[in-house]
Amino acid sequence: MGYKEVYDSWKQDPEGFWMQAANAIDWDEKPTKALFDENAPMYEWFCDGKVNTCYNAVDRHVEAGNGARTAIIYDSPITDTKHKISYAELQTRVASLAGALRAKGVEKGDRVVIYMPMIPEALEAMLACSRLGAIHSVVFGGFAANELAVRLDDAQPKAIIAASCGLEPGRVVHYKPLVEGAIELARHKPEFCVIFQREQEVAKLKDGFDFDWHGFQAGVEPAGCVPVEGNHPAYILYTSGTTGAPKGVVRPTGGHLVALNWTMKNIYNVDPGDVFWAASDVGWVVGHSYICYGPLIHGNTTIVFEGKPIGTPDAGTFWRIIEEHKVKSFFTAPTAFRAVKREDPKGEYLKKYDLSGLNAIYLAGERADPDTIEWTQAMTGKPVYDHWWQTETGYTIAGNPVGIEALPVKIGSPTVPMPGYDIHILDDAGHELPAGELGAIAVKLPLPPGTLPTLWNAGDRFHKSYLNTFPGYYETGDAGMIDKDGYIWIMARTDDVINVAGHRLSTGGMEEVLASHPDVAECAVIGVTDQLKGQLPVGFVCLTKGVNRPHDEIAKECVKLVRDKIGPVAAFKLALVVDRLPKTRSGKILRAIMVKIADGTEYKMPATIDDPAILDEIKEALQSIGYAK
Ligand code: COA
Ligand code: AMP
Repeated sequence: MGYKEVYDSWKQDPEGFWMQAANAIDWDEKPTKALFDENAPMYEWFCDGKVNTCYNAVDRHVEAGNGARTAIIYDSPITDTKHKISYAELQTRVASLAGALRAKGVEKGDRVVIYMPMIPEALEAMLACSRLGAIHSVVFGGFAANELAVRLDDAQPKAIIAASCGLEPGRVVHYKPLVEGAIELARHKPEFCVIFQREQEVAKLKDGFDFDWHGFQAGVEPAGCVPVEGNHPAYILYTSGTTGAPKGVVRPTGGHLVALNWTMKNIYNVDPGDVFWAASDVGWVVGHSYICYGPLIHGNTTIVFEGKPIGTPDAGTFWRIIEEHKVKSFFTAPTAFRAVKREDPKGEYLKKYDLSGLNAIYLAGERADPDTIEWTQAMTGKPVYDHWWQTETGYTIAGNPVGIEALPVKIGSPTVPMPGYDIHILDDAGHELPAGELGAIAVKLPLPPGTLPTLWNAGDRFHKSYLNTFPGYYETGDAGMIDKDGYIWIMARTDDVINVAGHRLSTGGMEEVLASHPDVAECAVIGVTDQLKGQLPVGFVCLTKGVNRPHDEIAKECVKLVRDKIGPVAAFKLALVVDRLPKTRSGKILRAIMVKIADGTEYKMPATIDDPAILDEIKEALQSIGYAK
């Protein structure tokens, strides 16, 4: 069957399609049906099945006689370390960690926050939680204590599992003080912390509250896998929305297993035993789905890479790893290739390595610009497949189903909808737009298995953010079109979310931080185009009347404030003090026009603008930092 036949077979019989896909999962109790629509438009999948994620990701491969197969390859150019963990070893390690967590009272349904760098122990912590039916929430290491505190208050974890430090080029990220700072800031206090001490930094542990990763496991009874209901939350992953309060995306266990397993062959075209590498971070959804769960559920070997595409030690790192570990499918964000291209435009590093084992390269996380795709194709000689998805879905909405049929690539399009996704382009009033016209991208409900059933602690926000605008549809927050061949084109976000180096960030959240500066009366943050990171935030602040301090001093304080409150990942380095912000007569800040001015693209003067002269002031301010040329 080709793509069209498979997609049509899903459309004609979604229930049959997903029940068939569910056969590839080992259930403790098979679900009697796939879709549960009693609470529509809140849909759920496989609710009456019983299953365990860790069993499917680890134990079942050992029981099938594949215990000696490598599950995880840890490759850390930043610490000059490499080692391999087999499925059998992984089972022992995870069962032991889960046993120790259980001995301290962690049970099914309890939340555990994980704050760790790219080391195998991060995956082990995730899997140990799934083994118990505990719900993990991994927080990206580039977030500051305040962001961690917000997540502690929302998820209310019983425990935190952290490492003593993370390692960024030229800098040690001291996790322990960040964890302590977060606990102090948070209203919710976890009962205990487990700390994995790294050689690079041994943190001081508080007696009775902090437990050493190894000591804590000594002499405990290893834990078996606890079967949970198909709709039991496997994890919560916080992602940026319009405001500073992140959205806790809930991932349901059964659908997650079924859908991720399906994607490994049909999208990434790997068979069990093949090496699959996603160069991302466990703190993002790509890391959850394709560093940890997807490859392991499918019996692949996954790579935990602690490094950067350049500088650790050079722009040949990707190619070295692909050759050395025989990577068959490689997945990263376009920004990573932009970094490599900038450093090694002629591919001199690449020539040193043998990429013959690599079948294809997959890109996601941000718009894949044609230059980057073409350069990557030309240098590697491999097909480069863009695919579009979100934290909310957990896997591809539109992609190239290479394992079914490799469709012709149209550069700039992530290709076609995957089975499960009925994509429509709607105008503001919710009317369907014809092929080639730009509008809001919406997915007809129900969303497929594995996608978010709701937001943690925020059912109302779930409705407001995703379901209310277009009744009967899921609002993706992206704008784009479908062409006459059915290819999807993603053009922009419809909200205040920006994408910096493949990281999803909220300009609204940054504005909240700037507004807390005592001298700031009003502010706006926009995402301007950046050649390397795709977008970069730029902040504009208007000062409170009577403030007479030097503007560059205040700008510096603003930059520091965002780094301290949100974290280095915000990449907020540009703040401008201006007299006024451009607004409509009703007081709405014209952020979209400010972006166009910064990028030097044409814009139409809005009829409702209050004072057009302010746009010249904004342009001048942007020119002072090299934009708006
Ligand atoms: N822990 C602590 N700090 C972190 C961090 C982590 N896990 N990850 C990033 N940071 C810090 C960086 O050190 C940097 O700090 P600095 O301001 O002191 O330099 C800051 O956050 C911004 O990081 P980033 O935007 O990633 O910039 P960079 O210059 O370090 O690297 C790229 C640029 C393109 C090389 C890098 O972003 C990259 O490899 N991206 C790959 C894409 C990716 O993984 N996307 C995830 C979704 S698929
Ligand atoms: P995240 O939830 O962090 O994965 O970010 C999801 C958002 O990133 C999407 O809503 C898009 O705005 C953007 N995005 C992800 N993949 C792509 C892609 N292939 N093309 C264009 N934008 C993308």
